[in-house]
Amino acid sequence: AAGAPAVVAAGSLAACGASVSPVTEPDAFDRPLLIPPLAESSVAADGTRVFTLEARAGTSRFLDDATTSTWGFNGDFLGPTLRAERGERVAVEVTNSLPETTSVHWHGMHLPAAMDGGPHQSVEPGQTWRPEWTIDQAGATLWYHPHPHGTTEQHVYQGLAGLFLIDDGETEAAALPDEYGVDDIPVIVQDKSFDDGELTIDDGGNEVGLLGSTIMVNGTIGAVLDVTTEIVRLRILNGSTARTYSFGFADRSFTLVASDGGLLRSPVELDRIRLSPAERAEILVRMEPGTEAMLHSFKPELGRVAVPFAVGGNDEFDVLRLRAADSLAPSSEPAGAFSEFGLDAAAVATTRTFQLQGREINGQRMDMGRIDESVQVDTTEIWEVRNQDLSPHNFHVHDVQFEVLDIDGDAPPPELAGRKDTVYTEPQRTYRLLMRFEDYSDPAMPYMYHCHLLRHEDEGLMGQFVVLAPGEVAQPPAGASSGG
Ligand code: C2O
Ligand code: CU
Repeated sequence: AAGAPAVVAAGSLAACGASVSPVTEPDAFDRPLLIPPLAESSVAADGTRVFTLEARAGTSRFLDDATTSTWGFNGDFLGPTLRAERGERVAVEVTNSLPETTSVHWHGMHLPAAMDGGPHQSVEPGQTWRPEWTIDQAGATLWYHPHPHGTTEQHVYQGLAGLFLIDDGETEAAALPDEYGVDDIPVIVQDKSFDDGELTIDDGGNEVGLLGSTIMVNGTIGAVLDVTTEIVRLRILNGSTARTYSFGFADRSFTLVASDGGLLRSPVELDRIRLSPAERAEILVRMEPGTEAMLHSFKPELGRVAVPFAVGGNDEFDVLRLRAADSLAPSSEPAGAFSEFGLDAAAVATTRTFQLQGREINGQRMDMGRIDESVQVDTTEIWEVRNQDLSPHNFHVHDVQFEVLDIDGDAPPPELAGRKDTVYTEPQRTYRLLMRFEDYSDPAMPYMYHCHLLRHEDEGLMGQFVVLAPGEVAQPPAGASSGG
């Protein structure tokens, strides 16, 4: 009898055309959590820190009984963690050893549009692309991933993604655990589906895209992390293509210290943190010697969605087991105040509105040859973003970190009150985002804004903006065919 309601639910879903494969939990969480290595770098004569990334095909051993074809940077799956200091000049030599065109975008990074790695910075097979820029933003957990127009979902899903950590004086003064791989842990959460050991990317008719039935962290299914300190810092990235999670623990709260673009003003105690694709959260978890804790994903509050079971992660499941040693090294308590930041809402020069609907923004699909918005350099703007649908979207803006001013007129919850570059947009709600455009781009070299549910982005839920001097006019990007 216990199984009957589930059968009924599946039948009614089939009737409305969506198939849902629930998450299957592993039998045990006993595989050591893989930690992406820190990327090596060299320092050139002029002081530039140079990294090397090669996108290539490989194979991974996720499952006991099968080998899986995957893509990775400098390895078979995912990529190394790049790390640099605020103020440093960095360059990355990106080589494409894949059989198809890709690109590498620095998600959350403030940098010139030509270095951004969006769809206009294609790297052809066999080619090397070398962006170079000066890190000029707060310490944060950023990431990198491909952005070729139309195939981003597939490239990320096959394994192309990695973290890019920025350190600065504030992150050091915050007294957070900072020994990478020991008490400062990358946690890249992704969902995958397998058929005969190979990754499948079928969305099953699901409006948001693929909701995989297997959860992995840093490429580990059923992962355990051995904790050796009283406090452990998890840098969580939702690296999934479509699924939204609500992370937390059944038996304890945690301390949120940073969101997408860096530290909060002060730490916040929370029970849950909802992360849609591309969002990050740095959390502190306190452990007692000899005990365990399970990072879990609860059913996310998705808002007023039409078909809750088919639109964005209905499941509840375990994600990562933390196992504390019998004696733990002491950790310092985080500083009470972290960071003072804030844009001046009174200085707003322009308000723009963005209606997200289906695969269109303001009634138009992405067109590589069309600049949608021209922003004036050195101005502050409000971008008013509304999800018109009854299914989830989120909204990501390149080049800037924004502040969520309000949601349907109400102040944002504390976890959305920090520096953000991506925000989940609940159905039928309006988000006002405050942002400042500090650097000139180029009349013909756009940045992107888009939904980071990657199927949506690939299918056209994306637009392009340039940052111009007063009086200047946008030019159609060179070499991009119009008509999208
Ligand atoms: Cu994470 Cu436009 O991307
Ligand atoms: Cu979307």
